[in-house]
Amino acid sequence: MNIVLGVGGGIAAYKSAELVRLLIERGHGVQVVMTAGAQEFVRPLTFAALTGRKVVTSLFSTNSESTLSSAIEHIGVAQENDLLVVSPATADLLAKFANGLADDFLTTMYLAFTGPVVLAPAMNSNMWLHAATQSNLETLRRRGHRIVDPEEGQLACGMVGPGRLAAPEQIAMAVDAEIGRRRDLDGETVLITAGPTQEPLDPVRYISNRSSGKMGYALAEAAAARGAKVVLISGPVHLAPPRGCTFIAVHTAREMRDRVFENLQPASVIVKAAAVADFHLSKVPSQKMKKTAARLSLELDPTPDILAELGRKKGDRLLVGFAAETENLQQETRRKLEAKNCDMVVGNLVGGEGGAFESDQNEVLLALRSGEFIAVPRASKREVADRIFDEILKLRLHIYATNGR
Ligand SMILES: Cc1cc2nc3c(=O)[nH]c(=O)nc-3n(C[C@H](O)[C@H](O)[C@H](O)COP(=O)(O)O)c2cc1C
Repeated sequence: MNIVLGVGGGIAAYKSAELVRLLIERGHGVQVVMTAGAQEFVRPLTFAALTGRKVVTSLFSTNSESTLSSAIEHIGVAQENDLLVVSPATADLLAKFANGLADDFLTTMYLAFTGPVVLAPAMNSNMWLHAATQSNLETLRRRGHRIVDPEEGQLACGMVGPGRLAAPEQIAMAVDAEIGRRRDLDGETVLITAGPTQEPLDPVRYISNRSSGKMGYALAEAAAARGAKVVLISGPVHLAPPRGCTFIAVHTAREMRDRVFENLQPASVIVKAAAVADFHLSKVPSQKMKKTAARLSLELDPTPDILAELGRKKGDRLLVGFAAETENLQQETRRKLEAKNCDMVVGNLVGGEGGAFESDQNEVLLALRSGEFIAVPRASKREVADRIFDEILKLRLHIYATNGR
């Protein structure tokens, strides 16, 4: 693999020398790019000696004889390398990456780069906890970049708290994981449902739920980043469809069911993250209901059970259901797994403090047919999405090994 190591202007810049050694030991070619700030802390010569390559230190060549190819080096570096790791990623670099600023070599190259990105931030605790930094991090996570969270401890500024660069070994392991994880869904079609459904009561009213669609959209982003062709069927949410997905917007459970079965054939994995309404009004009045009586009773009928039908018709496809529960998570995920013939059920607690709906984070419990439960600890929904696909792929390998399927 050819890796670009971007070094930002923080005290931890010197630790990237160790990271270079670990990456070279793993057989990677390493091209170092230093920001002007980084050069205040470590001299380019250190990295040039370790990598045996010229270190890129500025966007504009100081050499008046420079050729066009050297002048557009940032595009060349972006095209020739397979992965970008930035260590330390300063608060400034996170802000620039998140917002698409391109005022030096590293930030310009970042925009031209289409491969996986690993960011290892390091900074003072207050800078790390600042709302601006946290919001930039969320943007970058949602973009599919892997963030190696800093450690807690004594910082160079004297403070004790989060912000210390993760150990170089841990950053190298994140690079390994990113390389391994990339493209492991190449050539596959993954069908994902997301968001709530809206079941009309009359032309202006509907029954719905508080699902934001964030988990389903994070799953779609993760699957697309891993090379899958993604078909995302979504109820109404306030999110932009992830890039590169085939996007199908629906309102009702019935529409969702119909679109799912129209798109089922090429799918090898189905993830049903949508919070589908269980009941609807089967005969919706054509005019707005009037406030005439003191009390209104509505007789609701069950909506189509999409997951159960998929369980019957899935064939060799891997079927992953979601269980949004307010209590007895373990029991309910297991029950749903059996009842709907799923291969995995992702259980999450909803409602109340720390509930999954509307939040950018989630923690889930995966129920497997083996009887095993896997707890995925609290993390951004994008990271949880990748953990879910890691487990889906492991599960499939296991199914192949045991059934020859
Ligand atoms: C002594 C010193 C240490 C610094 N350490 C950090 C740091 O650890 N993390 C950080 O985000 N910024 C740190 N800064 C601030 C950055 O150097 C500054 O924001 C700079 O503009 C970053 O440039 P760059 O992002 O292009 O590398 C430090 C500044 C100084 C003077």
